[in-house]
Amino acid sequence: MCGIVGYIGPRKAYPIIIEGLKRLEYRGYDSAGIALFDGKDLKVSKTKGKVADLEAQVEKEITTTGNVGIGHTRWATHGVPNDVNSHPHVSNSGNLVIIHNGIIENYESLKLELISRGYTFKSDTDTEVLVNLIEEIQKQDNLKLGKAVQVALNQVIGAYAIAVFDKNKPEEIVVARLGSPLAIGIGDNDDEFFIASDASPFLEYTKNAVYLEDEEMAIIRFHKGIKIRKIKDDSVVETFVQELQINLEQIEKGGFDHFMLKEIHEQPKAITDTYRGRLLRNEAIIKMAGVEDNMKKFLNANRIIIVACGTSWHAGLVAEYIFEDLARIPVEVEYASEFRYRNPVINEDDVVIAISQSGETADTLAAIKLAKSKGAFVFGVCNVVGSSIARESDAGAYTHAGPEIGVASTKAFTTQITVLTLIALRLARAKGTISSSDFRTHLLELELIPKKVEKALESDDNIKVISKIYKDAKNFLYLGRGYNFPVALEGALKLKEISYIHAEGYPAAEMKHGPIALIDENMPIAVIATKKGHYEKVVSNIQEIKSRKGKIIGIVTEGDTQVRGLADHVIEVPETLESLSPLLTTIPLQLLSYHIAVMLDKNVDQPRNLAKSVTVE
Ligand code: F6R
Repeated sequence: MCGIVGYIGPRKAYPIIIEGLKRLEYRGYDSAGIALFDGKDLKVSKTKGKVADLEAQVEKEITTTGNVGIGHTRWATHGVPNDVNSHPHVSNSGNLVIIHNGIIENYESLKLELISRGYTFKSDTDTEVLVNLIEEIQKQDNLKLGKAVQVALNQVIGAYAIAVFDKNKPEEIVVARLGSPLAIGIGDNDDEFFIASDASPFLEYTKNAVYLEDEEMAIIRFHKGIKIRKIKDDSVVETFVQELQINLEQIEKGGFDHFMLKEIHEQPKAITDTYRGRLLRNEAIIKMAGVEDNMKKFLNANRIIIVACGTSWHAGLVAEYIFEDLARIPVEVEYASEFRYRNPVINEDDVVIAISQSGETADTLAAIKLAKSKGAFVFGVCNVVGSSIARESDAGAYTHAGPEIGVASTKAFTTQITVLTLIALRLARAKGTISSSDFRTHLLELELIPKKVEKALESDDNIKVISKIYKDAKNFLYLGRGYNFPVALEGALKLKEISYIHAEGYPAAEMKHGPIALIDENMPIAVIATKKGHYEKVVSNIQEIKSRKGKIIGIVTEGDTQVRGLADHVIEVPETLESLSPLLTTIPLQLLSYHIAVMLDKNVDQPRNLAKSVTVE
C-alpha cells in the first residue's frame, strides 16, 4: 500500500511524478504529496485527498521546475490522513526528504531517542522518524547519504520501500526495499532514472527496469548509473536489468468509465490467456511446468493447504471443491492472517498453495515463509510477475490476467479459478481419479468458458434495471451451494467494498440456522440457482425466502423456468459443468455491485479505506 514515484534526469520531473502518482493511486489514496528540487531549494506540497487534489494545489503553491523529485500517494497506517501526515517528510534541517511505503515498527523508541537529542516532529508518522534518524546518523558520523541510509535501516524493524533525497547532493537519490516493492526504470545511456512501486509510471519512457530485492538498496546517480548493495553487509549486488513485457494500453481504461468495468469485460481474454499453452485439448493434456516439475510432491501430499486473503481466499474455497471432487486430495483453506499466527500443524508432506493477485500481500507472504520454515512445499498462484510471493514460492503458475488496477478484484478471481482448475485436472489425471472422457469433457468445457463469459456479460442491461431497484437497500444476502457458495461470499464482498452496502454470503442451506430471521420484504437476496448442483435443494431455499417476502434475484441457467416462476428477477448464465460454474455465476454479481456503486455515486475504482496491494499486516 502507498505508491511512491521518483525521477532524476534531463526532463521536467513534475509531470512524470504527478502522472505516475495517478497510475499508482490504486495503492492508496488517503493523501498525496510531492517534493521537487528546483536547482536551489526543495519545494514540497502535500495534501489530504487524491492526486487530483494535489495537482490542483501544487500549481498554486510551488514552482514546478526542476529535474529531480519524489512523490507519494498514501494509504494511512500511522497517523490519520491529513496534510501534515502526508508524505514526503522533510528532516529537521530541511536538507533531507523521504517517501516511504511500509511500516517502521520500532518508530516510537527511535522517536524518543531523537527527541532526547533535540529533534522535533510535526507529524504522527513513522516516516518522519526515519528521515530524522538518517539525518542524525549522517551528522554524527559525517557520512554520505547512502551510508547513512544503510546504517539507519539496520536499526529499524519493519517494512519499507523508500526514496531519500538530499538537497545538497542533487545528483543522487537513494532507494531501499524490505517487504514493499520498488522498481527502477533506466533510461537510455544511464541519463535518467525512474523510481516507482511498480513499472506503470515509467512505461512510456523505458522498458528497462531493475526490481530491487528485499534487503537491497540502490544509489542512483544522474549520468553515473546505479549501484546496488545489500543493506545488512554492504556487499555489492549485480544489477539485473529486465525488459518489461507490459504496455501502456494494458494500464489504461480503454474507453470504459472505470477500470473495474474494463476488467470485468476483459475476463474472456484473461481466462483464455491463462489457459493458453497449458490446456492442449487436441492432445488431451494439461501442461504446466511448475506442476510437472513437482508432480511427486503433489502426488505424495497428505493434503493441500491453501492460504490467501479476500477475493483470493474465495478462489481458494472454489479450489477446495474442485481438488477434492476431481483429484481426491484433502484440502484446507486458510485465511493467511490466521494461519500465520495460530501455530498450525504443517509438515513436509503438505503442499501449500498461496494465491495472490498482487503477490505482495503481507499476510500471505508471511504464511508462505512459515510453511517453508516447517518444510512444506509452497506453490504460488500470482498475477504480478516477479512479485514477492512469486519469488518466495518453491514453484508456481501465473494467472495471465494482465494488470488489475480496479481495487475490487474481478478478473484476478476468475483467472485464479482457471489456474487452480487446470492444476486439479492435471493432478486428477495423474492420480487416475478422473476418467479420460470426463477429463476431455472438462477440457472442452473450459475452452468454451470465455465465449460463455461473453454471453453472461450480455445481461448487463437487465442487471442495470435490477441495480436501480435495489440500490437503496441497506442490506443484501447472497446464497449459493457447493461450488457456488464461495461465489456467494465473493458477490457479497464485491457489493460491500464498492457500494458500502452491508452484505453477507451464506451457504443457501445455512439460512435456516439464523440468517432467515433477517428476511422481510426489504431484503434483496441474490441466489445462485444454476441447473447443475443441488438445484432442487436451492429451489426449496428460494421457496422459504419467498414465503417470508424476501426479494429474490436468481442467477439461473439459460432457459430456466422453475426459478423464474418464483423469483422477482432472474439473470441467466450459459450452462456449463458444475465445477466450472463459478466462472460464469460470478459475472452478474460483479456487474450488480458495479452498477449499484455507480448509481450511488461511489468511487468504484478507489473505494474508501481500501488499497490494492495490502503490504501491511
Ligand atoms: C477484494 C480484494 C481483496 C484482495 C485481497 C488479497 O476485491 O481485492 O480482498 O483479494 O486483499 O489480495 P491479493 O490477491 O493481492 O493477495
